[in-house]
Order: sequence, then C-alpha cells, then structure tokens
Amino acid sequence: MNIEKGYVDAPVDPALDLKEEIIRLKKEKGAVILAHYYQEADIQDVADYIGDSLALAKIAATLKENLIVMCGVHFMGETVKILCPDKRVIVPDLNAGCSLADSCDAVEFEAFVKQHPGYTVISYVNTSAAVKALTDIVVTSGNAKEIVASLPADEKIIFGPDRNLGNYISSITGRTMLVWDGSCHVHEQFSVEKIADLMKQYPQAELLVHPECKKPLQLMAHKIGSTAALLDYAAKSPVRQFIVATESGILHQMQKDCPDKEFIPAPPADSTCACNECSYMKLITLRKLYNSLRFEQPLVEVAPELIDKARRPIEKMLELSARLGK
Ligand code: 13P
Ligand code: SF4
Repeated sequence: MNIEKGYVDAPVDPALDLKEEIIRLKKEKGAVILAHYYQEADIQDVADYIGDSLALAKIAATLKENLIVMCGVHFMGETVKILCPDKRVIVPDLNAGCSLADSCDAVEFEAFVKQHPGYTVISYVNTSAAVKALTDIVVTSGNAKEIVASLPADEKIIFGPDRNLGNYISSITGRTMLVWDGSCHVHEQFSVEKIADLMKQYPQAELLVHPECKKPLQLMAHKIGSTAALLDYAAKSPVRQFIVATESGILHQMQKDCPDKEFIPAPPADSTCACNECSYMKLITLRKLYNSLRFEQPLVEVAPELIDKARRPIEKMLELSARLGK
C-alpha cells in the first residue's frame, strides 16, 4: 500500500463489486460516508449523507462515528476535520482541490485584511483552513444572503473569495462589500450564447444557475441558488424541463428526485471538453473510496493552531444559520 500520490495506491481484485464492498467495509469499521452533489453517481449512491456544502457542514457537526469519509474536495474534508478534530477524516484523494479556494492565497488575503482594519471578514466555505482562520464568519451559497443581510446596515464587509457570488449577494442585499477577485473555473466557463440557443430550443424550460456563474448568466436565470436550493426549486416547480448551469453531477439527484422531469446540462463554452464537470470532484472514484476505507488513509490533517482559529467562524456560521432558519 502506498499513499505517496495522495491516495491509496493498492491493487484491487477486478472481480469485486466495489459498491457492495464499500458498504460492507463501512459497516465493519463503523465509518460514515458524506458526499457532495457533484460526486459521480455511484459515489452518491453509497453515501450515508449527500448534500451541498452547508448541509454537509451541519451534518459533520453532529456525527457520532469516529471514521468519516468525505467524498468531495479537500476544503470540505478540512471543514469536517475542523469541526471534528478528534476524529479520523478521510478524503479518498487529497489532490481533489478547488480552483476557487486556490484563487485566494492565505498570505495575500491576510495582507488585504490588514489593509482594511475594522472590516468584518466573510469567507465562502470554498477556502483553505488558513483563510478561514483569518475570517469572522464563514458562509455557503445556501446562507450567504441571510447572513450578510443580518449584519448591521453600516457594517463594513470584506467578502471572499468568489467575485460572482460576492457581487450577487451585494446586489440582492444592497450591501456594499469589498469583494475578493476569485472564481471557479467550472462555473465561469458556461457559454451565455450556447445557453441562449438551448433556451430557444427548449422554450418551456427554466434556467437554474449557481451563483458562482458570471453575471450575464445570472441575469438570464429563472432561479439562482446553491445546489440544494436548485434541487428544491426543481422538485417543487410545476415546470417539467430545466437547463442546469452548475456542475453536472447534480443531475443525478435531480433525476432521482424528479424522474418525470427533464434536466439538461448547460453546455460548456468549449464543446470538446467536459468542462461542466469539476475535474477535482471527479478525482474521487469508487476504487479510491474502497481503498481509502480498507486502509483508513489518506487522512486530512489540519495544524492544531489553525483548527482553533478556523473553527470559530464555521461555528459562527452554524449558529447564525440556525437562528436565521437556513
Ligand atoms: P454548494 O455550496 O452549492 O454546495 O457549492 C459548492 C461548490 O463547490 C460549488 O462549486
Ligand atoms: Fe471548487 Fe468549482 Fe469544483 Fe466547486 S466546482 S469544488 S468551486 S472548482
């Protein structure tokens, strides 16, 4: 067994039914599997809990199991470790990063925060533990609006790192914020022209857009929301066709929840690539999940001093979220 590559590199018997084996191992070891909606369908199907970033953080804070496998990207594993520092937390491939989290370097962010004393620092959950440690309140796309709106009207706010989410929250809350210039490579690449063509082709369809997408796409949307909000909207809507502008993994749950509705993935700008898939999320495979459960590796590690500093803004988010009903 070798974990030098960031995941367990060990031979797997090709005759095994990996889904059955994962479920067996999970029970045997008393482990729990969390999965984000952007994970591949097979992974979502073996998970104990599936959710958006907000739901997964809330669930993590209540787990009893000592071995937690987070099928998502690295910052999601860090969030679980920060909330459950005494537990063993696995992300089956530690290379599963996030271009948005990477667009906010902690050293640069610290310098920016220091240039603006007296500002409340709000960070999207898609950040490293080091950036969270510089933050007053963490938010997700599922609660950012309510949390920002709950602050006093004259509060001076820094919002990082996603410029599209930040500008969207600023526009709907009327708050002026200093917004960090970061973005997600998946959500920024959707083609407005191709989506406009698709809307002509499916005139009955509604367009669902994640707030990490650029403003021109947001302006075309029937609904802007976090992955969980988009799922909820699609399930409750009388409309039967939706064009979905977020990572395509979410279509699995949408189709499961609403088998009689049609979900059309928004096309990427470059039709030769699968750019509406998050390549980091898709690094987590059944094989890596199976091996990670077998060997209980690779573990997510966060320095104890960072855990203490980063836990406060996450707990603040959970507290505000509960108070604001989000
Ligand atoms: P959610 O907060 O909607 O789960 O989104 C997380 C994410 O990584 C979006 O790209
Ligand atoms: Fe990060 Fe974008 Fe992937 Fe979400 S879709 S995990 S923001 S790179």
